[in-house]
Parts: sequence; structure tokens; C-alpha cells
Amino acid sequence: AWSPASFVETQVEALREQVGDQHVILGLSGGVDSSVAAALLHKAIGDQLHCIFVNNGLLRKGEWMQVQDTFRGHFNMDLRAVDASDRFLDALEGVDDPEEKRTRIGNTFIDVFTAETDALAQDLGTRPAFLAQGTLYPDVIESVSFKGPSVTIKTHHNVGGLPEELGFELLEPFRELFKDEVRAIGELLNVPSSIVNRHPFPGPGLAIRIMGEVTRERLATVRAADAIFIEELRAHDLYDEVWQALAVLLPVQTVGVMGDERTYEHVCALRAVTSVDGMTADWAHLPHDMLGHTANRIVNEVRGINRATYDITSKPPGTIEWE
Ligand code: XMP
Repeated sequence: AWSPASFVETQVEALREQVGDQHVILGLSGGVDSSVAAALLHKAIGDQLHCIFVNNGLLRKGEWMQVQDTFRGHFNMDLRAVDASDRFLDALEGVDDPEEKRTRIGNTFIDVFTAETDALAQDLGTRPAFLAQGTLYPDVIESVSFKGPSVTIKTHHNVGGLPEELGFELLEPFRELFKDEVRAIGELLNVPSSIVNRHPFPGPGLAIRIMGEVTRERLATVRAADAIFIEELRAHDLYDEVWQALAVLLPVQTVGVMGDERTYEHVCALRAVTSVDGMTADWAHLPHDMLGHTANRIVNEVRGINRATYDITSKPPGTIEWE
């Protein structure tokens, strides 16, 4: 029977065997999948594992520091953190099409990752032979089934995000697993619960939660709204009850009133869903009081937003993210 313990035991053995005395690189995002993959690889091959964490400028509030603290401090892993925010934001200038955003972010990531791998190879005196990824079964399925003969709904960059030309052999120990199984493995490997139980977060980050062009100002706005929503979910003990919760910044301005002033600011949409695997989802029936309180806080505390709405669309026909 499948159990996290037997999976870890088998995989550690298999990974050691496969990797031998070679080196492995892993793109760490701070999310559940890549974090648990890093923990598993670290258990198997120790400091033959090298993690690269790229700040694409599209991360959530506090994430850049939190991930570094966890993996350097808690796990004592070789972590190379690269702040490439400006490169990503420059690449996104003037772009409002969702797939074009993904393409630019994906290409920039490949450039940054390649440069960092070259630097690592210099330091090691040898090129890492393997690339490890936290790809899950639904990632594999969605990237296939979402591409019909003539229609791609979304390209998920965690699958095939890094091209074969980079010349690495792939290690994808979770290719047949679902997220709840990976979470169980993470717990067993002592990955902090702040990471193991974290909501999924897309590779293109906050860029696909800003409808229209991504600017530094809009990023700051959506990041602040997201942080408040998550804080309130936690405060109401609801964080673990939902699969994913997010704030979306709309390019629509509406009239409001603040004190005795007229405002003309943007709308923020809040979305929270329940799901088993992210492939289908229902909107989360959050308590009205909690939603009202959250909307109030966002409108009062986040500059540039004067109205909040709650999305009650399921998937399908809606998707979880708005882009
Ligand atoms: P959708 O919006 O397709 O999302 O219903 C399903 C799950 O996938 C995440 N998602 C992405 N993850 N790159 C990723 O790594 C992407 O481009 C991407 N688009 C959506 C989404 O957050 C949800 O968990």
C-alpha cells in the first residue's frame, strides 16, 4: 500500500542510485511542490543538491525572505537566491495578454536560470547533470488536456517550463502524485507547515492577477490586497478550509466615497475556492461577516482600491485564476 514513508524510502534509494556522484539543480519557488521536492532530494543526496530561487518581482508579500530563511536556516541547503525583479518587470512592460505574460516570464526565467546554472558550474568545476522538478500528476494532465487540437486554455509553466536544450536529465519524483500526497511527504520530511499547507501559487505569480499591464504600482496594490485576504482567512481559521484564495486587480475604476471625498479608484475581486486537485473547483462559501470585514480592510488600507467583489464562479466554466 502507498504511504508517505514507503514512498520516501523507495525514492531516496532510487534517487541516490540514479544521481550517483553527480550534481542536481532545482528551481525553488517557495511553493509546496518544489519545496517538498527539494527536501526529498536533500535527504537523498545532501549537498549534491543546489537550489536556485529566483525573485521575479511577482512574489507574495514577505515571500522572498521567508523562503531564504527556511531553506538556508532550517534545512541548511545550498540555496542561490537571485533577485531578477527588474528584468522580469522590464520584460512585462506594455504586455496585457495573459499568454504573452506567461511567455515573457517563462523566457526570462530560462535566461536567469541558465546564467545561474553556468555560475554554479564554474564554482563546482562541473556541470550539474540533473534538473529536479516538483511536477505533479495534475500538472501533467492539465498541460495535455488543456491543449486541444486548436485551443490552449493556459500554458502552465511548471510543466516543460525549462527546455530540453538545456541538456539536463529530468528528475520528477512526484509525477504520479497529487498535492495531498506531496503534502503528507512534506510533513514527514519536516518541511515547515507554513510551506506544506500553503495554498498553490502560480509560476507567473501576481502577474496573472493583474488584469492588463503589470506595473510596479499595480503589483504593490494587488500584493497588499492579497496579504490582507490571507491574513483574514488565517484570523478566521479558514485558511486550511480552502484550496486557494486570491485577490485580482481589475483595470476598472468605480466611484466611491471616503470621508466626504469622492474617490475614483480600482476594483479588486476576491476569489476563494475549494477543490481536491485544482482540476475542478467550487467557490468557497466563506462567511459573509468575514468577507465584509476583509472588503472593508482592503478598501481602507490599500491605496488605489475603493471596491471589492467576491467571485462565485465554479471551475468549470471559470478557471481558478482570472488569466
Ligand atoms: P486554473 O486557473 O487553470 O488554475 O484553473 C489551476 C491551478 O494552476 C495554477 N496555475 C498556474 N500554475 N503556472 C503555474 O505554475 C501557470 O501559468 C498557472 N496558471 C494557473 C492556479 O493557481 C491553480 O492552482
